[in-house]
Amino acid sequence: LKVVVCVSGGGTNLQALIDGVKNGNIRNTDITGVISNNPCAYAMKRAEDAGIPSFCISPKDFEKRDDFNQALIDKLDELKPDLIVLAGFLVILPQELIQLYRNRIINIHPSLIPSFCGTGYYGLKVHEAALERGVKVTGATVHFVDEGTDTGEIIMQKAVEVLVEDTPESLQRRVMEQAEWVILPKAVDAIAMEQKFEYL
Ligand code: GRF
Repeated sequence: LKVVVCVSGGGTNLQALIDGVKNGNIRNTDITGVISNNPCAYAMKRAEDAGIPSFCISPKDFEKRDDFNQALIDKLDELKPDLIVLAGFLVILPQELIQLYRNRIINIHPSLIPSFCGTGYYGLKVHEAALERGVKVTGATVHFVDEGTDTGEIIMQKAVEVLVEDTPESLQRRVMEQAEWVILPKAVDAIAMEQKFEYL
């Protein structure tokens, strides 16, 4: 399975995928490219260190959004991935891309969808909302990307306990370590092996 990973930040989910391929947990898979909208994203260093071609395509580099959209589509046309993985990619995908890659784009979201998802729920905000609501369990979700925000078919989920002493940061860390970095590699392996998705 040829996989391209789209990132914007630290790239710890990308790292989980890189490590998963290396240690054999993700079978039959090659990460053939990393695309970031943020040139300074540490994820780009992780790609470099792993010898994976990385490309920075940022809306800021284009006069019009359509030109950015086209550049993103053209790059993906070049890379010809079987699967696109959004791992903390903070860019709204062009609808054309979602049509071109229907059911071949997946995203990792740091909550148990349908809780705490949709526009505005990203990064720490997700965990602040979970603590605000007082949920006792949260987690992460891998889902297919469709035209909506966090609305595509759910592939895998993993629950994580919320501790009374949690801060948004401590909760984010636990959700990443105990859920995101577990189910994203599992989901890619399952797709690569065309297995049915067991719900964690
Ligand atoms: C994580 O919080 C993930 O849940 C969300 O964006 C962040 C990405 O982190 N999708 P990283 O860049 O993978 O470390």
